Amino acid sequence: MQIEVSTLSPQALDTPCLIIPVWQDEPLEGLAAQIDRDMDGLIGQFIEDGFKGSAGEVRMVYSVPKLKAPRAILVGLGKREKFSTKNLHKAVSRAARAARGIKRDGLAVVVPQNRALKPEEIAAAIVEGVLLGLHLFNDFKTDPETQGLTEIKNLVLAGDAKSEKALQRGAKYGQIAAEANLRARGWVNLPSNKKSPQFLAFHAQNIADAGGLKCEIWDENKLREENMNVMLAVGMGSDNPPRLIRLDYTPAKSSEEAPLILVGKGVTFDTGGYSLKPSASMEDMKDDMAGAAAVLAAMEAIAKLKPKRRVIGLIGSVENMISSNAQRPGDIVTARNGKTIEVLNTDAEGRLVLADVLSLASELKPAAIIDFATLTGAIGIALGQEAAGLFSNDGDLSAQVQLAGEKTGERVWPFPLWDEYQEHIKGKNSDIKNIGSGRHAGSIAAAIFLKNFVGEGIPWAHLDIAAVAYIREDRPLSAHGATGFGTRLILEFLRNF
Ligand code: BES
Ligand code: MN
Ligand code: ZN
Repeated sequence: MQIEVSTLSPQALDTPCLIIPVWQDEPLEGLAAQIDRDMDGLIGQFIEDGFKGSAGEVRMVYSVPKLKAPRAILVGLGKREKFSTKNLHKAVSRAARAARGIKRDGLAVVVPQNRALKPEEIAAAIVEGVLLGLHLFNDFKTDPETQGLTEIKNLVLAGDAKSEKALQRGAKYGQIAAEANLRARGWVNLPSNKKSPQFLAFHAQNIADAGGLKCEIWDENKLREENMNVMLAVGMGSDNPPRLIRLDYTPAKSSEEAPLILVGKGVTFDTGGYSLKPSASMEDMKDDMAGAAAVLAAMEAIAKLKPKRRVIGLIGSVENMISSNAQRPGDIVTARNGKTIEVLNTDAEGRLVLADVLSLASELKPAAIIDFATLTGAIGIALGQEAAGLFSNDGDLSAQVQLAGEKTGERVWPFPLWDEYQEHIKGKNSDIKNIGSGRHAGSIAAAIFLKNFVGEGIPWAHLDIAAVAYIREDRPLSAHGATGFGTRLILEFLRNF
């Protein structure tokens, strides 16, 4: 999509569709008031007829004298004092979807002003609202009706001259962040007959080549040499061998600084292994590499945004399948850091993969580690699809991650990691076992398991994204399917880290 900022008067904009935001329960002001006058009180009529301006509420305006645009859409922003990126995302996404519904192939959005957000943030949120709100996964539909949806090819942000530079900066950032999110969605939505650990490694290499990152891939032989035996054990059942993927971003200045390490769970399909999942739970298990997708996509964006901080992306990728080579319940394996694990449930495989990857990450002396993993069904029982679970050994890091998620609309919520929970995973025949006790505290048990592989003193945060990575109902920023959760959070986090 072609995106630009214009400081022309919106009435004069030559666009297929002008989007006019309106505050809830307020007299019309600025442009909306001006247009209302030009239209002999038409917007006022809509308000009398029940248009409140609540966030995301939409009214089509078909005939607009004195506007160059042949169509306009009024969209509610909600109450001025409750203005947030969330409301703006919702408003812009609804308006953009409505515009597509009337076959508009371009849009202009009048940029609202509000002290709660900087012009740069407002511009970024508008671009994200349009790009993410319009996304649909229809790559495999052959029906021309779906394929023929009008493509919105350009977007104009109509703002004032005073904030032009800031709006341009924000629009550019928003586009990079949104496109990264869409990349992640693309990989997650792809069915598992079209992806594998090698596939992720291939894309990592491409990202590195295009963006000037360093890329290292460990194949199964190298993984064995490197004592990544727990990760290997999970992958043994599949003909698609495991891969460890490492991407390095090093800023032009200072390469000695401790890096931020992003870790992603990349299980390209999770059958559960011999602790087989029932069919209904297996249906969506192509999404079990969503953490890896977020990290890969964020690394691609980082290569473009060039933050000051060194960043390393580490992905452990396997396919959790069944064959005579697959691991068995009761197998005991030794992780890279030397701890022994009894695999009592082969479906608790994500934590096994991450055990080796977190051990490796800890050896690299990072400033912090953040991992993204579709780890437990239990996290959805606790939080629903409104937030990812946040588990951390460091209050500051935890607060920063939470704040970043609040800003991007990727909410995360903290859980405790008290030592008492170690008891839940204490092994009978080994140091630890890979499941907790019964149905109690399933997501915490998984997180405390991971903690055993994080080096002493390293600030670490684990995001359990199992319930938010893939949704079955439409949301403002995401239609049914992959959400790309975590990608924009990483980029936002890095702005202040
Ligand atoms: N990949 C699943 C978790 C998951 C569930 C992701 C729902 C996305 C949606 C994970 O590997 C898993 O199977 N976890 C088990 C752990 C249990 C065996 C202790 C679970 O949550 O049931
Ligand atoms: Mn599993
Ligand atoms: Zn899994």
